[in-house]
Amino acid sequence: MEFKNLLIEASDGITTLTINRPKALNSLTGEVVQELECALYELDLDASVKAVVITGAGEKAFVAGADIKEMAEISAFDAHDFASKGQRLMLLMGKMRKPVIAAVNGFALGGGLELALACDFIYASEKAKFGFPEVGLGIIPGFGGTQNLPRLIGANRASELIFSGRVITAAKAHEWGIVNEVFAPEELLPKALATALEIAGKSPLGVRYAKDALVNGLNMTKEDGFRYESSLFGVLFATGDQREGMGAFIEKRPAEFTGK
Ligand code: CAA
Repeated sequence: MEFKNLLIEASDGITTLTINRPKALNSLTGEVVQELECALYELDLDASVKAVVITGAGEKAFVAGADIKEMAEISAFDAHDFASKGQRLMLLMGKMRKPVIAAVNGFALGGGLELALACDFIYASEKAKFGFPEVGLGIIPGFGGTQNLPRLIGANRASELIFSGRVITAAKAHEWGIVNEVFAPEELLPKALATALEIAGKSPLGVRYAKDALVNGLNMTKEDGFRYESSLFGVLFATGDQREGMGAFIEKRPAEFTGK
């Protein structure tokens, strides 16, 4: 499929997906949200793709939120529909069988922070800035931010960020546990790709089921989560990847996983 707003590059099993509307700070129109959903759905079905890195085009922004100019005059029904579609995209990212890493190169505001939070983890440039400015626009985050942020950093810090609309630095986002690591701007993408490549060298089924256990376990009681984990652990013993991984260890050779 051709995309008007996305650049897609693939190398060594890693796909880099760049949101490409730099003049509008990569803000999310309905069309961008739809393209992201289609692109990620296709990448999830493509067995040659082992991990995905999402970033923003240009120096200034990862994604500066939903497109305010497009949103300003929409009806309540269309706003509900837009939020539902954005949330469907964020949920898809959790359901994907492969990891998605956010490489936040600049502003990640509103829907942009929500997109980053829906990734499995976030790397950031020293120039990145994070925030939820929605209350200053008379609205609230609508792509899952009020749900994902408190689950990640706790209700107190999430409340401070969302109620104040304050924009925080990458260093603060790192201190608060939103961002895994902060890099010099030129190092951000190479570091994200290097981690993606490290993951791509592991068993695709192991990574897929580990993500499944983590993402789904977050919504379960601890006991249900443990039970879910042991089921997935057991299933993996019916796979070639488990035989290959353990066989390679015993035979002292590198494993060659097939994801089967
Ligand atoms: N929507 C539409 N256009 C946007 C945009 C957005 N979210 N963010 C930036 N732009 C546009 C600007 O309008 C401007 O376009 P023009 O040159 O045509 O005027 C261009 O991008 C460059 O932006 P600025 O001139 O404003 O750049 P700046 O460096 O002065 O400021 C900024 C940068 C602080 C990020 C500022 O652009 C800003 O505050 N943007 C809006 C951020 C925001 O409120 N995001 C939340 C949106 S609501 C949401 O996301 C809801 C949800 O949960 C789904």
